[in-house]
Amino acid sequence: MENSSLSGKGILMDIDQRRKREKTLSTPSVGKLVSHTGSKNSTPCDSLHRLHHLPRTIGFTDELGISGAAVREFYSSGWKRPLVLTREDFYHWQFCKAPLCLGQDRNCLVVDEGQVVGVMGVTPRNFLLQEQTFVGAEMTSWLLAENHKGGLAALMMDFLQRSFSVLFGANVSEAALQIYLRKGYTQVYMPRFVRVFSWEVVKPFMRATPLAYKLYNDSRHALAGKDRKFRLETVNPENLTPIVDDFRQTHSFFSRYYPDIQWRYEKHPLYKYQTFVVRPATGEGQGAFLALRVDEDIDGFSMLHILDLFGDTMGMQAALDFVQTLAQESGVAAADFYTTSSAVSACFRQDRWFSILDDSFFSFPHLFHPVESRVPSTTSLVYWSRESSSALHDVGRLYITKQDMDLDRPGPAQLERLKTGGVPLR
Ligand SMILES: CC(C)(COP(=O)(O)OP(=O)(O)OC[C@H]1O[C@@H](n2cnc3c(N)ncnc32)[C@H](O)[C@@H]1OP(=O)(O)O)[C@@H](O)C(=O)NCCC(=O)NCCS
Repeated sequence: MENSSLSGKGILMDIDQRRKREKTLSTPSVGKLVSHTGSKNSTPCDSLHRLHHLPRTIGFTDELGISGAAVREFYSSGWKRPLVLTREDFYHWQFCKAPLCLGQDRNCLVVDEGQVVGVMGVTPRNFLLQEQTFVGAEMTSWLLAENHKGGLAALMMDFLQRSFSVLFGANVSEAALQIYLRKGYTQVYMPRFVRVFSWEVVKPFMRATPLAYKLYNDSRHALAGKDRKFRLETVNPENLTPIVDDFRQTHSFFSRYYPDIQWRYEKHPLYKYQTFVVRPATGEGQGAFLALRVDEDIDGFSMLHILDLFGDTMGMQAALDFVQTLAQESGVAAADFYTTSSAVSACFRQDRWFSILDDSFFSFPHLFHPVESRVPSTTSLVYWSRESSSALHDVGRLYITKQDMDLDRPGPAQLERLKTGGVPLR
């Protein structure tokens, strides 16, 4: 059941008028969109005419007639560190290619006299909650021009909350957090799990007491003696759909049906992911969906990041056996995963991975390009929903991972290397 729609929403809002009248616009004027033949190099996202005659407005990129290039230029000029959203290939993948985008650019902009002066990156995605499907969105990289700060951000948030039923952001800054919390969002830190495979290699980057080292040794011996058996399958709609159908009975999450998985992992412009359906060697059960990436590019070591792991318990346990076999065979120094779901976390706890939020004797970086730790060393989320918010607050049944909110994206150090013709990213 579709509870909200991206069409027919208030698209443009004359902020100055709104302030003057001090009332909410119930039927905002929508700028007439002009069909456009487009230049040879234009893409669907960039193909609308610019509307220069408008006063200061808030709206979606395409409906304001602003080009993606202008948004990227605004990010380039205002974001303090190198940002992957300034790359055309990445921008189009992130903001126009996700299944619910339907080729349109739904970034939330503030435009003043035809110039972009504010942006919130928005990727619309179906959100599955209590057997219903809502039009949700992931938000990223909120930026206002210096001379437009002080008030507009709250109006952008009003616009987004009118346009989407469920909204998520991650790792928000102090300035942004104030607005999120006052607009009814909740902040949570995601449980994160780490397994070290090569202690000496990662020692300089982590904080660990002698107890952590003893537990590392214990886990190595346990792993060496474990009979690991699993069956790997290529992901296709037939084996993925029943896993998602079952998982949504107990969890709320951004859709992971086949088109979503294809977009997120197969069509990624820069990273190479591996995806599997994993079952125990006996072939029992429906199995679990697993997505991972080996990051070989970190300051002297490599990491295996698990992006997704969900399914039946036997499948998830078999997937963890596979991950640990792969990690050891490929010589990665450590592996990590974070999730809000307590059922998925349970597999990591049972397998004795270090828990960043619980094990005070162990801390490990969670940002890698460059290597960086914040306290706590995991990702924070902010979420909001118009309806069914009590279900969303049941965070043990929420499934958000590094797959979501574009959390697995090239960092500043990698972007610098790409610019200077360095090795392609993996
Ligand atoms: C984040 C950012 C977009 C916020 O915009 P801003 O113009 O600085 O924010 P605002 O001044 O509008 O909002 C902050 C203030 O509005 C208040 N506010 C927010 N919503 C409000 C509401 N509905 N009613 C009343 N006050 C509200 C906040 O409490 C705060 O006020 P205070 O500092 O006086 O207590 C901007 O600071 C920015 O571009 N920062 C740099 C990049 C960045 O950090 N991005 C966020 C990444 S997550």
